[in-house]
Amino acid sequence: MSNVHLRKLSITLGGKAIIRELDLQVEPGEFLVLLGPSGCGKSTLLHSIAGLVDASGGSIEIGGRDMTLCDPSERGIGMVFQSYALYPTMTVKDNMSFGLRMAGTPKAEIARRVGRAAEMLQLDALLSRKPAQLSGGQRQRVAIGRALVREAGVFLFDEPLSNLDAKLRAELRRELKLLHARLGSTMIYVTHDQVEAMTLASRIVVMQAGQVQQVGTPLEIYERPANRFVAGFLGAPAMNFIEGEIDLHNRFASRGLALALPQPKPAGTAVLGVRPEHVAIDADAPLHATVTLVEPMGNHQVLWLDCAGIALSALVHGPERFAVGQQVRCAIDAARVSLFDPASGARL
Ligand SMILES: Nc1ncnc2c1ncn2[C@@H]1O[C@H](COP(=O)(O)OP(=O)(O)OP(=O)(O)O)[C@@H](O)[C@H]1O
Ligand SMILES: [Mg+2]
Repeated sequence: MSNVHLRKLSITLGGKAIIRELDLQVEPGEFLVLLGPSGCGKSTLLHSIAGLVDASGGSIEIGGRDMTLCDPSERGIGMVFQSYALYPTMTVKDNMSFGLRMAGTPKAEIARRVGRAAEMLQLDALLSRKPAQLSGGQRQRVAIGRALVREAGVFLFDEPLSNLDAKLRAELRRELKLLHARLGSTMIYVTHDQVEAMTLASRIVVMQAGQVQQVGTPLEIYERPANRFVAGFLGAPAMNFIEGEIDLHNRFASRGLALALPQPKPAGTAVLGVRPEHVAIDADAPLHATVTLVEPMGNHQVLWLDCAGIALSALVHGPERFAVGQQVRCAIDAARVSLFDPASGARL
C-alpha cells in the first residue's frame, strides 16, 4: 500500500481550468472517497493520478516517489472504470490476466494472482465464461478483478457501481468494503452517491468546481459541514436551511422561531441548518406546525411541515401516523444545528 500526495495540483483541459491548486494527502491503506456533483472534476483528478491526464501545475507523489511526469504503467496503480470495457471475445480468466500477459509476467505468477483475485471476488466458477454470459454485477467484479491482479499500491475506482441496479449496487458496495479490509490497499473512489461515500470512506473529500470544500471522516462531514454547500450536499432529505438573525443574547430568531444557541456565535444575519432527524414531533414542543406532505419510508416517515411560514422536513420514527393538514408541534434540537454565514456560506 502506498500514500498519494497531491501538491498544488492544477489541470487545464481545452483551455479551461478544471482543477485548481488542489492539495490532498491520502494515507497508506486509506479508503478515500471523492464526492461531488457532476462536472466538479472527480474523474479528471482520478485520471491525473493514474497518469491518463497531464497536470498543468503542481505535483503527484505516489508511494513516496514523484510521479508527476511518469507513464501510467510506472505508477503502481490499478484502475476500475464505470464502464467495464471487458474484451467480449476473451474469457473471464483471459480478461483478468490480459495486462499481466502483456507485461510478460511469468505464467505461474499470473495463475497465482488470478486465482487469488477470483477467490476474493467469487469468480472461481466463472473463469471460463465470456462477458456476454455474465450478469452486470459479475462483469463489474471481473473489471475489479482485472485491477486487483496488478497487486498495485493504489487502486482507483471511478463510479464502479453506477451501472448496476440498486440492490446489486448495495451488495457490491459491501463486498468492496470487505475487500478493502482484507487487502488493506490504498483506495481512491469516485462517486456522486452519498450513501456510497458515507458507508465506504475512511475519509471523504467533498469537491465543487475543481476545488476541495472539506476533507473529513463521514461523521465529521455530516455533523460539522464546513459550509452550506457541503451541508446541503450530504443528507437525504437535505438539511433544512432557515434565514434569520442571531441577537445579542445568542438566540437565533426567524419569524415565529426563537432558539437559544448552546455555543456563543457572532450576532448578525445567519442561516441556520438543521437536519430532518433533529426536528422532533412532540405534543409538548414549542413550535406550531401544519403537515403539508407525508412520505412513508417503511422504517420511518418524512413529514414536510409549514412552521409559521418556515418550510421544515422532519424525520419521524415510531408507529404514529400523520395526515396532510394535521396540526402538530415540533422542536429543533439546538445542540445539533449548524450556522452559516449568509454571504460566504462558511460555517460560523
Ligand atoms: N477533454 C476535456 N476537454 C475539456 N473539458 C473537459 C474534458 N474532460 C472533461 N472536461 C470538463 O471538465 C469538467 C470536469 O469533468 P469530470 O469528468 O472530471 O467531472 P466529474 O466530476 O467526474 O463528473 P461526473 O460525476 O459527471 O462523472 C467538466 O466541466 C467537463 O466538461
Ligand atoms: Mg466522472
